[in-house]
Amino acid sequence: MLRQRVTGLARVPRSFRVGVSNRPLLSSGIRWYSKPTSNAALKFADDAALKTHTDTEAAAREQTETRAAASSSPSEVIGSTTSALQNAYAENTGFGTRPIYLDMQATTPTDPRVLDTMLKFYTGLYGNPHSNTHAYGWETNKEVEGARKNVANVINADSKEIIFTSGATEANNMVLKGVPRFYKKSKKHIITTRTEHKCVLEAARAMLNEGFDVTFLNVNNEGLVNLKELEEAIRPDTCLVSVMAVNNEIGVMQPLKEIGDVCKRHKVYFHTDAAQAYGKVPIDVNEMNIDLLSVSSHKIYGPKGVGAVFVRRRPRVRLEPIFSGGGQERGLRSGTLAPPLVAGFGEAARLVVQENEADVAHIKRLSEKLTRGLLAIPDTSLNGSPEHRYPGCVNVSFAYVEGESLLMAMRDIALSSGSACTSASLEPSYVLHAIGKDDALAHSSIRFGIGRFTTEEEVEYVVDAISKRVKFLRELSPLWEMVQEGIDLNSIEWSGH
Ligand SMILES: Cc1ncc(COP(=O)(O)O)c(C=O)c1O
Repeated sequence: MLRQRVTGLARVPRSFRVGVSNRPLLSSGIRWYSKPTSNAALKFADDAALKTHTDTEAAAREQTETRAAASSSPSEVIGSTTSALQNAYAENTGFGTRPIYLDMQATTPTDPRVLDTMLKFYTGLYGNPHSNTHAYGWETNKEVEGARKNVANVINADSKEIIFTSGATEANNMVLKGVPRFYKKSKKHIITTRTEHKCVLEAARAMLNEGFDVTFLNVNNEGLVNLKELEEAIRPDTCLVSVMAVNNEIGVMQPLKEIGDVCKRHKVYFHTDAAQAYGKVPIDVNEMNIDLLSVSSHKIYGPKGVGAVFVRRRPRVRLEPIFSGGGQERGLRSGTLAPPLVAGFGEAARLVVQENEADVAHIKRLSEKLTRGLLAIPDTSLNGSPEHRYPGCVNVSFAYVEGESLLMAMRDIALSSGSACTSASLEPSYVLHAIGKDDALAHSSIRFGIGRFTTEEEVEYVVDAISKRVKFLRELSPLWEMVQEGIDLNSIEWSGH
């Protein structure tokens, strides 16, 4: 098989050492650095000149200077975050020196200010927020309600419309299962798209097994849904349209307002999975006619294990709860809340508002730099709409290089391939397939995630490293050789096993 030949040949030298010395940059303008590593040097094959992260002494000097500058700054942030940061970015993880982190769609590093907010709940503030007969409960409940307000504020919702969950997976399951189950007597149809996160797709498939109909809409080759097709798919028995806000693989942003208008016109509930969009792109649930919306805290520098679902109150959206129990969270999500997580989430939500301007400008600038640098490599292409996108997610195909080989060659950078390579079969990404990429190109794709703490030096390093390694791997690639010789790859008949 074609891919096996390429993989077999494009073996990656084992001799390069991995090292990263500095992170992160807070958008308030203050820098912190983790400890410099003893082997913060990197060599790749014959490449001599990979400059960033190679000079341990310089990194140590810079770290000392930066910490000194931070500790003499009047910013209120400093005092509360320095100690948290030292712990938050521990070097000794047992996995060796840690790579540059560019996998922000998988998760984001916890903002030190979030960690500081959480700590008090593990010491003094341990009351159950649902205990309404004594001060322990009241004081925790007050914090939980403050967090709820902050979470609601990001999307212009009322705090009563926010139901805390364990994350976006639970939120999506609550909606995709709960709404159809509530309205099942008269409505048996759900509409979603082919490029949703697995938790939406699998929840929708589970509903097929319960006797519901599901329409999985196609997207165009930019990853966008067609509004006309959406409108035509709506039936008198459609109860729910679920279209994600920002795609986790290719960063494409769906036209939420327009979808909301269609749904409102047809009196169908509109749900959006905003795990990758919340706090990053503007969302106003009222202006956009969104009835239900899923959020995850760990995508916005908050703790893992907590999220929320927005459920509109006027007009009231009904859903059957998944959990049976004490009736917490307006009866929609029974179970004792986790106050440290909820408070951390609330602080992360407060910070995305406070830091919005700086975050947006920072991420846009680094994204443009990264995209320009990567697309300057021959035979590369950006996946997904170049206009309708969240800039912090850059997905690029490197033709004639296998994504997995490239990832293996990039162990000094934490990345994810475009392929859903969680299985031994290395199944290519269904999202890239949905936008018309063939297997080869889908396998040659890598997702780069930029966030609040990504530095310019990291982006420069990544562009330089990727350029050199793509060139190196292509030199090992028989396909690349054929292309250079002018052979049309489509004219080749590949033999099977
Ligand atoms: C678009 C999208 N939806 C849902 C999820 C699931 O979120 P959580 O990890 O909070 O369950 C993710 C996480 O990767 C995501 O990117």
